[in-house]
Amino acid sequence: MSAGLTLLPPSASAAARGTDALFLTLVGLSALLTCIFVGLIVIFCYRYRRSARINRDNPPSHARGLEAAWTIAPLLLFLVLFAWAARDYAVQSRPPKDAMQIFVVAKQWMWKAEQPNGRREINEIHIPVNTPVKLIMTSQDVIHSLFVPAFRNKRDVVPGRYSTIWFLADRAGEYLLLCAEYCGTDHAEMKGRVIAMQPEDYARWLEDGATHPGLAERGFRLFREHGCMGCHAAASTVHAPELSGLLGRRVHLSDGRNLIADENYVHDSIMEPQKDVVAGYDPIMPSFKGQLDEEEIMAIIEYIRALNPDQTTGERR
Ligand code: CUA
Repeated sequence: MSAGLTLLPPSASAAARGTDALFLTLVGLSALLTCIFVGLIVIFCYRYRRSARINRDNPPSHARGLEAAWTIAPLLLFLVLFAWAARDYAVQSRPPKDAMQIFVVAKQWMWKAEQPNGRREINEIHIPVNTPVKLIMTSQDVIHSLFVPAFRNKRDVVPGRYSTIWFLADRAGEYLLLCAEYCGTDHAEMKGRVIAMQPEDYARWLEDGATHPGLAERGFRLFREHGCMGCHAAASTVHAPELSGLLGRRVHLSDGRNLIADENYVHDSIMEPQKDVVAGYDPIMPSFKGQLDEEEIMAIIEYIRALNPDQTTGERR
């Protein structure tokens, strides 16, 4: 590593090193071009200074080849940079299908995370190294933004919808976790740590924690307590859509639209049931606005996902 890299935060993933390579290339190119242009200005200032005896009446020449070259060369250069950046961006925005899922709820002013086995943490997210990890995130109040400089990855966390971010840490260690969206008085204090551990250590850590019922199990309890069963159970006499295998499935709506049922769709169906009514059903579902908070809705979504464990979630953008 060259000395210049100490100006950058530590990097703990291949994606971070890719981002650095792109960034440093852009800095290098900018520096090179700046040197060329400033150098030419200085040389011409000297050469054509007032007292210089130099022929000043030579007409501009039309060197077609030269003009074409300085137009086409930067164009090609920019296209290469675009393709490079677009490829990295595409990789970073699409989590692998087998990524481990951790749920994150942001609120003023803390990060709450829930591990796959239900272990919960605040302002800390433990992850195993060399494993793709996907965070499914939502906010309980205002817009936050989850930022882990060591992974060079950042995503807004928005109330009322789910956003995802993923990373594959390849070095164990502790990395800063920041909020990168001004969210009120203690925005600057809304920070924590991502702790990347060897998979064995992570597994041990996971088992050591206080055991909570997993998200899906809590979701089942909420599903029962709020009377969802009354309509959505198979034996129900009320005509309501079947929920098993829902996540990732294409849903046809009564107004002719169709969409892939993802976390945002389920969330909205609970909070604003009249928004996307499934074709063939009456708009009779009541809204649960004010009765369920974001964490509870996450739990219910996990319960619905667990109804069909084979189903991979439809990735939404
Ligand atoms: Cu949360 Cu800034």
